Amino acid sequence: MSIEDIKLKIEKLTKEINEHNYNYYTLSKPVISDYDFDFLLKELEELEKQYPQFEDPLSPTKRVGGDITKSFNQIEHKYPMLSLGNTYSFDEIKDFDNRVRKVIGDDIQYVCELKYDGVAIGLTYINGRLVTAVTRGDGTKGDDVTANIKTIKSIPLVLKGSDYPEEFEIRGEIILPHSSFNKLNEERLDIGDEPFANPRNAASGSLKLQDSSEVAKRNLDCYLYYIPSENVSFKNHLQNLERAREWGFKVPSYLEIAHSVEDIFRFINFWDIERDNLPFDIDGVVIKVNDYNQQRDLGFTAKSPRWAIAYKFKAERVCTRLLSVSYQVGRTGAVTPVANLQPVLLAGTTVKRASLHNADIIEGLDLKLGDWVYVEKGGEIIPKIVGVDTSKRELFMETIIFPTSCPICQTSLVRKEGESAHYCPNEKSCPPQIKGKLEHFISRKAMNIDSLGEGKVEILFDNKLVLSPADLYKLNTDTILGIEKIYQNEEGKNKKLSFKEKTVENILSGIRNSKSVPFARVLFALGIRYVGETIAKKLAKHFKNIDALKTATFEELVEAEEIGEKIAESLILWFKDDCNLELISQLKEAGLQFEIVESDQSTTSDILKGKSIVVSGTFKIFRRKEIESFVELNGAKLVKSISQKTDFVVAGEEMGPSKLEKAKKLGIEIISEEEFLERINVK
Ligand code: IVH
Repeated sequence: MSIEDIKLKIEKLTKEINEHNYNYYTLSKPVISDYDFDFLLKELEELEKQYPQFEDPLSPTKRVGGDITKSFNQIEHKYPMLSLGNTYSFDEIKDFDNRVRKVIGDDIQYVCELKYDGVAIGLTYINGRLVTAVTRGDGTKGDDVTANIKTIKSIPLVLKGSDYPEEFEIRGEIILPHSSFNKLNEERLDIGDEPFANPRNAASGSLKLQDSSEVAKRNLDCYLYYIPSENVSFKNHLQNLERAREWGFKVPSYLEIAHSVEDIFRFINFWDIERDNLPFDIDGVVIKVNDYNQQRDLGFTAKSPRWAIAYKFKAERVCTRLLSVSYQVGRTGAVTPVANLQPVLLAGTTVKRASLHNADIIEGLDLKLGDWVYVEKGGEIIPKIVGVDTSKRELFMETIIFPTSCPICQTSLVRKEGESAHYCPNEKSCPPQIKGKLEHFISRKAMNIDSLGEGKVEILFDNKLVLSPADLYKLNTDTILGIEKIYQNEEGKNKKLSFKEKTVENILSGIRNSKSVPFARVLFALGIRYVGETIAKKLAKHFKNIDALKTATFEELVEAEEIGEKIAESLILWFKDDCNLELISQLKEAGLQFEIVESDQSTTSDILKGKSIVVSGTFKIFRRKEIESFVELNGAKLVKSISQKTDFVVAGEEMGPSKLEKAKKLGIEIISEEEFLERINVK
């Protein structure tokens, strides 16, 4: 190929990949498989590597990030980034409408939109190419977060078409959809980090990350809602949004034209209920005058436009009594205060407990035992206490003071600099920490010993039969048959859980099967701080066995893909501890996998990314557990039951008849073991 041809080929591939990204992330209508997409991307990457003279900083290959921003530069907004006037009442919407009609008369059209609950962003394009992405900041100047924003795949780096203005700014909201938020929090819990309270905080925290490749993994999204009218030639807001959509922006279609306050109220009432079914958070609706000339006539106050208003949904709030505060100790030793409340109905569920997060929150609320507290369910998953009704306070109520020692093992608590949580440092013998580590060890994504749940682990622990993961492999029928525990269920009734023959058989076979769990998952199961599922995979792939990992120096660790200083430090510290070395030697002796098997490596890929797969029946070439781990190792989600969302079923012999019938009824593809292995390139 001549150099001219190479250039053309790079341009063609770039265009093609941009189009596929647009189809997938903006329209949610992919036209090629992930596998074919990855192939195109690899091809472009190779060409760019070979011919760096044609490399474009806005190439789709740059979406994975890699740029590090030590501190974010401040950029002045060309047009101040104003906020909107807020209201919670229909009367104020009527007042707004009256004010508007007084200035521009009755020939009026409003555009009603959703108020996306995320972080505001201003994107500037010159000649159709993204130049800067700036946060709101103080409204006059904000942070330059361009490197991070470039990793958000629904934001076009190069615009489609050609009729866009030479230079313009478009504004929108960076949001984190619920599915990505839940996944992110699960991962944070896995590595012992505090979960984010809500998707907005998670989105905002993500934009401030220094490493853009971390941002790339968060699956942020961006909904566009405003182009300052100075930038464009159209007559109204709606036409502009439609144009923006043609240029490749994600402009949601939850929009409606309203001619009267009644139309507006209908829109609000509809979304107040329907918002529960959206895959992302909204906190209200926004009402905007559509016509640009009318917008200009109305103008701005110092803080917000007079042509728009935001109606905010009321977070459902109730008042109830604080009965007591308990302190939970997690696997990492973090102590979380939990408020025990007089049960109260809130947004359809009975709330008995609310998280108080940390000592600062208790102090900020100046909480006292017996207080009447306001409980809210806003964007947060767990209800939270937002205030105290001090008028109901009685004299001499007891102030809540955060304990100075662990509520379980009485060790003095420590608070690390810069962290809001208190920790119990007695990680070796504080019971909930040991139990938490055992629960993590057996969990689905780790050793996957599903015949042992939290309750059963607790019985084994309480009977002093299992105090460390290695003890699991020393269990036998004689030691565990017949052990039991009486416990109280949710309704306060006494229940008995006892290890009968069948239970024991299942537990022991689950433990035996776990010996074939691949090295990466064993590594994850050890519960080393900051070593989540993905990092464990990277470490296993790079170091191949535990001995190489154990003896790796800091420099060698940070050389591995995605291993940063924080992770390296944590690994070094973990391997310095003799108890941990003893644990590894016992687990090795028990027969666990401490080195990568060639097939582990060749079966790790993203080929099945985004797919939901059911595995059913018994298999000939591999064991069922192995097929299941192939599903996960290749990026798919393993699900137990068939639903409309299932992409396909891997069926062995004796697939359950009801599953077969359901799959057929829903028209879900059923493939054989051989076909599945072919798809993941295991021959
Ligand atoms: S329009 C000049 N439309 O809410 C007016 N804002 O409190 C520009 N927001 O700063 C804003 N959804 O961060 C607009 N559909 C929407 C919105 C929206 C969310 C956010 C945005 C804004 C804040 C106002």
